[in-house]
Amino acid sequence: MSELHGKRVVLGVTGGVAAYKAAELARLLVKAGAEIDVVLTDAGAHFVGAPTFQAITGRPVWHNLWDSRMDNAMAHIDLSRGADVILIAPATADFLAKLTHGMADDLLSTLCLARDCPLLVAPAMNRQMWQSPATQRNVAQLGIDGVSVFGPASGEQACGETGAGRMLEASEILDELIAFFQPKLLNNQRVLITAGPTFEAIDPVRGLTNASSGKMGFALARACVEAGAQVRLVAGPVVLDTPRGAMRIDVTSAAQMRDAVMQAVDDADVFIGVAAVADYRPVGNAVHKIKKTAAMSIDLVANPDILAEVASRPNAPFCVGFAAESQNLASYAEGKRVAKKLPLVVGNLVQDGLGGDQNAVTLFDANGAHPLSQGHKLAVARDIVKHLATLISKGNSDAQN
Ligand code: C5P
Repeated sequence: MSELHGKRVVLGVTGGVAAYKAAELARLLVKAGAEIDVVLTDAGAHFVGAPTFQAITGRPVWHNLWDSRMDNAMAHIDLSRGADVILIAPATADFLAKLTHGMADDLLSTLCLARDCPLLVAPAMNRQMWQSPATQRNVAQLGIDGVSVFGPASGEQACGETGAGRMLEASEILDELIAFFQPKLLNNQRVLITAGPTFEAIDPVRGLTNASSGKMGFALARACVEAGAQVRLVAGPVVLDTPRGAMRIDVTSAAQMRDAVMQAVDDADVFIGVAAVADYRPVGNAVHKIKKTAAMSIDLVANPDILAEVASRPNAPFCVGFAAESQNLASYAEGKRVAKKLPLVVGNLVQDGLGGDQNAVTLFDANGAHPLSQGHKLAVARDIVKHLATLISKGNSDAQN
């Protein structure tokens, strides 16, 4: 996905060893469709030279306030005009201090002061430097001044110590930047999501499950975080990375998923049931592996319907269901919406989405059916969030009238 198509990013690189990750970040930004102007501080240029960034971005690299390549000799003004964002990665403790105090003694600090676009920083420094009262004061002040701070992460540091202060990985900064550009449609909303399959044990090695990959639920969790929501993600057994910023609770069976949801639901404004919960589980769970015989039968008992239970609670959150069908999508999905008393159901034909990265869905609400454009599951998830946010704000304004 060309997530940053049409975006102009000024990438500032200051003098920390994490500057090597900035080269990778520049590559990812270009791949995502952004136009990049790299600005190095003197110290940044000591770590990674201008030719590296020039080769990656295909554009001139800047680091001198007196650069004569700009027609009007005002690189500090020209570079930030027309930029959608200035991103400093890595941002050293020294550079954060300069930003906090509005210092402007080189090209990068001057253009940050002269900017008319948002400023984002990805700090990178030794853990003691990060924890020092001065840096913490500076970061808090930058937050008050409207600067967004990405990270830092914790872990092993180049100096051999371990702690908070590592710069985020390039791919994580890219995700943060993409999220930064998404409209904050779910600000202040607390969203609880189930995703993936459940696994119902028959014995210690066998079980009943289904083909859900969890990708749609995880994409929705990411889209909700990007939209400014606080997200808790109850995940069945899947092999997927947790979307940055979501709080993940791993479960295996439907019963565990139900318990995790019921523990969290009081603090949820929105509940989205994406999980393909197994409808049945074996009666009992053999302690030892069942030995093979010519034939075997398993007695099954119905699992609790988590979504229906949440939707029928007094003061239920805004509930969204999913209906994955192999035929008669409209009638089955609308039937589920009415039966489970849901304001919104997302329906899809399993042949359009199961396991893959793409999906084609239709939304069913009180006003009828709304087909969404087919696309990558993250793009589809963002469209679902848009519709959901409209229904929530409409519900809120109806309640006030
Ligand atoms: O009735 P059906 O299983 O098709 O409904 C699908 C919707 O209900 C999905 O949103 C799914 O997450 C939810 N569900 C549930 N608990 C179940 C079965 C389905 O929350 N036991």
